[in-house]
Order: sequence, then structure tokens, then C-alpha cells
Amino acid sequence: MGEGSTDTPQGVGHGGGREVSQLSPSHVPVLLKEAIDFLNVRRGGTYIDATVGLGGHSYEIAKRLGAPGHLIGLDKDPAALERTAARLRPAGSGEADWPSIELRHASFASLGEARGPIADGLLADIGVSSLQLSDAARGFSFQADGPLDMRMDPQNERTAEQVVNHLDERELADVIYEFGEERRSRRIARAIVRSRPIRSTSHLAQILSAAARPMNSGSDKYERRIHPATRTFQALRIFVNRELDDLKALLEAAPRILKPGGRVVIISFHSLEDRIVKDAFREGSIKDKYYRVLTKKPVTASEEEQDRNPRARSAKMRAAERV
Ligand SMILES: C[S@@+](CC[C@H](N)C(=O)[O-])C[C@H]1O[C@@H](n2cnc3c(N)ncnc32)[C@H](O)[C@@H]1O
Repeated sequence: MGEGSTDTPQGVGHGGGREVSQLSPSHVPVLLKEAIDFLNVRRGGTYIDATVGLGGHSYEIAKRLGAPGHLIGLDKDPAALERTAARLRPAGSGEADWPSIELRHASFASLGEARGPIADGLLADIGVSSLQLSDAARGFSFQADGPLDMRMDPQNERTAEQVVNHLDERELADVIYEFGEERRSRRIARAIVRSRPIRSTSHLAQILSAAARPMNSGSDKYERRIHPATRTFQALRIFVNRELDDLKALLEAAPRILKPGGRVVIISFHSLEDRIVKDAFREGSIKDKYYRVLTKKPVTASEEEQDRNPRARSAKMRAAERV
């Protein structure tokens, strides 16, 4: 087997060295080979990983940048950065050819403040990380009992508990409809308001299951396939973290911070995000002509990857080049 350290993010399995990963499957980065190929990392360049997370993609970028390169990694979640700082080290004797790495606790929306074209490439693998999902105390999962928090950044003032207990019924229904694409939003909002106060993920999941019951007996296979809490939890998470606003700010900043020939690669996990990415790339290529779109259709994970990593099933990747 290979020679990598046991805490090295999973190797991409093509090109040079192949690291041995001891990470659980849920920590495996999504569309890793595809994202790295589309980024077309140039040795010695400056690249931004806007969602460094556990560093799976960043590690592969770093390997290709080599000592003259520079990698800037951002994350809203300081817990991710703390763990990842130690993981973004070269395996074996690669120290001499490793780029400088700068990790910043920041939202990628802040990239709008960058002055001029600074980057040869920009990657964003948006959404929630396995680290966040698997920690019940963060409140992201309806499958484990925890407080209704859902903040990626603990400095964020708004928590899911505040939203669930203080938004008025109509606003709550709008959030659930808009960000969860949940057609039972009004009924769910009514059930939530009647059950207040709600303090835990399991209490909320119970309310959502009960509110969904009459419709679940119908013939809608799709609705029966997903857990009745899925869409509402997604909606609350997006609202709490202002995820779509951040994504729009990132897409607005991208063409300004990319050097000519630089590439932007975005991996998203639901249709609301993918639509925003698709529209921004299309606008940049047709109307303003600063992009060449590299993916006519979104790239999705192979069946083999989907089997290995269920999280990859909903992933969609799009890429464009700054011209
Ligand atoms: C799916 S994970 C990234 C996984 C990473 N590519 C890897 O290989 O380990 C998404 C990460 O993006 C972060 N994130 C989400 N929205 C963000 C934003 N607006 N700005 C910065 N980081 C964000 C989350 O905290 C999470 O750690």
C-alpha cells in the first residue's frame, strides 16, 4: 500500500502519489478527481478553496501547486479550520515541495472585498460538511438529538431555535417553501407554531413527521422516499446561514478575482444552488462575455462514487474559465 500518513485526506487516485486514507467514507470529498481536473491546477499558482472543510480538495490542490504555489482556504466554521490546519501537511518527504497555505475564518461572501485578479482558480464545494452533520450538538441532523442550532459559524447571531420559535407563521411557511421547496409549508408552519417552544432536533423531527402523515399515504413515491423532515431542515439551515446570499456574493466576486485563464469550479447539493450557479455562468458567457463555460450540463458523480459515498448522489458540479 502507499506511504501516506493516516490522517491524510483521501488521495485522488490518479497522477502521482496515492495516499492511504483512514477516513470514514463520510469524510471522502465529493467529485474529487473531476473538480481537480476542471480546476487545471498550475504549479506555482494562487488558488482559493472557498470551502476548505476537512481539506480533501485542498490537499490535492496543494500537491499540484508545489513550493512556489499559494493556497488560500476559507471556511465559516472555525472547528473545520482547526482540524484541517494539521491535515494539510505533505505526506512522507514532500515538505520541500509544498505551497504556502493560508487558512482564514471567513465567509466566501467576503471575497468580494479582494482587490483585482489574484487567483488562478477558485473552488467551492458548498453545503454542510460531514464534520458538521455528524456532531449532534451542532443541530444539523434530524437523525440525532441535539439543540436546534444549525450555525456553520458560531459567531452568527441567528440560530435555528430562534427561527423556529420566533418567526411568525407566514414568514416561517415562506422560508420552508422557498428554501426547502416543500409544498406542505403552510401546514408545517402551523404545526410548528402550535408546538412551541421547540428546543431540540428530535422534537422538531417528530412534529414534521406528524404533519406529513396524511400526504405520505398517497401515491407520490418521491415524497415517500425522503424523510418528512428533510426539506424543512434544509430550509432552516439555508436560512440560518444565509447560504444563497453568500453563494450569489461569491459568484459576483469570482470574475473579478480570477486572472485570465483562471477557472471557477462550484459543487452544489440541491437544485436551488445549482440554478444560481448555472444562471451566473450563463450570464457571464453570453451577456458579459467574461466566461467560457466548461460544463454544458452539470457533472455528477459516477455510480461507483454514489455507491461508495451516498452524499455524492445529489452533487452537481459546474465549471467556467475566465477569458
Ligand atoms: C462540503 S464541506 C467542504 C468539504 C471540503 N471540500 C473537503 O474536501 O473536506 C462545506 C464547507 O463549507 C463551509 N461553508 C459553507 N458556507 C460557507 C461560506 N459562505 N463561506 C465559507 N465557508 C462556508 C462549511 O462550513 C463546510 O465546512
